[in-house]
Amino acid sequence: MRLLALLLLVCQALGEVKKLRPVPPVILVPGDGGSQMEAKLDKPAVVHYVCTKKTDSWFDLWLNMESLIPGIIDCWIDNMRLVYDNTTRTTRNSPGVMTRVPGFGSTSTVEWLDPSHHYPTSYFYDVVEAMVKSPLGYVRDSTIRGAPYDFRKAPNEQKNYFKALKHMTESMYNSEGQRVVYLLHSMGGPMIWYFLANQPQSWKDEYVEGVISMAGAWGGSIKAVKVYTAGDNLGIYLINPRSIREEQRSATSLAFLLPSPDLWKEDEVLVQTPEKNYTTANFKDMFEALNLPDAYNIYLDTKNLLKDAPPPGVDLYCLYGHGINTVEKLVYQEGSFPDKPDLVFGEGDGTVNLRSAQVCESFASKQRQKVHAKAFPVMEHMAILKDVDSISYVVETLTNITQKNEEAAAKATQVEALEKQREKNMVDQHLFHILYKKKNFKRNDISSASFWKVLNMNAMPNVL
Ligand SMILES: *[C@@H]1O[C@H](CO)[C@@H](O)[C@H](O)[C@H]1NC(C)=O
Ligand SMILES: *[C@@H]1O[C@H](CO)[C@@H](O)[C@H](O)[C@H]1NC(C)=O
Ligand SMILES: *[C@@H]1O[C@H](CO)[C@@H](O)[C@H](O)[C@H]1NC(C)=O
Repeated sequence: MRLLALLLLVCQALGEVKKLRPVPPVILVPGDGGSQMEAKLDKPAVVHYVCTKKTDSWFDLWLNMESLIPGIIDCWIDNMRLVYDNTTRTTRNSPGVMTRVPGFGSTSTVEWLDPSHHYPTSYFYDVVEAMVKSPLGYVRDSTIRGAPYDFRKAPNEQKNYFKALKHMTESMYNSEGQRVVYLLHSMGGPMIWYFLANQPQSWKDEYVEGVISMAGAWGGSIKAVKVYTAGDNLGIYLINPRSIREEQRSATSLAFLLPSPDLWKEDEVLVQTPEKNYTTANFKDMFEALNLPDAYNIYLDTKNLLKDAPPPGVDLYCLYGHGINTVEKLVYQEGSFPDKPDLVFGEGDGTVNLRSAQVCESFASKQRQKVHAKAFPVMEHMAILKDVDSISYVVETLTNITQKNEEAAAKATQVEALEKQREKNMVDQHLFHILYKKKNFKRNDISSASFWKVLNMNAMPNVL
């Protein structure tokens, strides 16, 4: 009995906590490399005798720093790379490799990239922690959830992911009674743009409160060009960029991240060599020069995914950093193509060029929903997820949305009360008219006992 009472108390307390404030539920949408991946092997062959051919269980494929050590990184590359089928125009895993993305719906696999939770590989952790500790009282895996995905693949191969994302959006809306916010980083920008562009406006109006974009790569990045040509070590300094180039080039998401021709016109040289220059207008020639026929086909598959896409059609909060050297052009001297470019830098956050980040802002003139932009000077692409100022801005944005929800709720209550009052008045009036005709009552008499006696009632009824 006492236990039951205690349980009831706890339930009551939980109920009250949940009712604290009408916060918008949040879904975290990571960028390229921002989701954990697991693999299981039963390979016909390995690239090196140190590589494992068969595993009995799932192991961490991404991110697992130990697998990236020079000498054994080749094993990782062969497990991670995608194989393109130029007849179905889709990709699959390398032979004998099974992969899965753990943790859809929870936050942990996007808060931390290395499951061992070593600090340098924290990802959304600081943002989530701030939301949980804030007066908004976000709860992991309940009011805030993660939507990790196989980041090697472009949106044209993410059908199931988008289906799951849509389902999670609806279910969070239904359980919280508030519209959902997508909080994204980097490639999460064009991913969500693609997703929203393919939803009816009525669905967005009903379920989506808005998008908070942190360093969104809305218009691609010149860095993707560098990955195809010279390679890039993704900021992990131990890795030789050229050694992971093969794996990166197989990812269809890399083609999806190539700089948009809407932002870089055909007269803007991105890659300069003594023999030929490359711009967004002749990537075909670049892929030919690199001898990458599959990559060219993948580029054809992905280049129009956002061409002429409508604006997102929801409120946007665009946070981005700038003031950090960001690759703008690769210049090759005689004989150095493609491995050894001289890099020319421009404005951006070190990964996303400024004009790509600002695509988010540019939607302001293209949609009726609001667009708020906040630029952070000297803020790097990953640092924006850890910086006090940018995180505070996110929490403030969510607080403002919560306030708006509270006002809407208060207004709804008020409207309801007025409605009830109006109904009651109408009933009163109706009764009054009936009685007025019969007995010559006056309007003031409606609250008197004698008035109601005529109707054989003791007093004014509460419910009619
Ligand atoms: C598809 O790939 C094969 C093998 O790489 C190649 O021989 C063929 O020409 C390709 N077909 C197309 C349409 O690109
Ligand atoms: C490439 O572009 C540079 C500057 O943009 C120009 O000076 C050069 O002549 C061009 N080279 C070729 C081969 O067109
Ligand atoms: C939140 O709302 C306040 C008051 O309207 C406004 O001054 C502030 O800029 C808003 N903050 C954000 C992050 O939008």
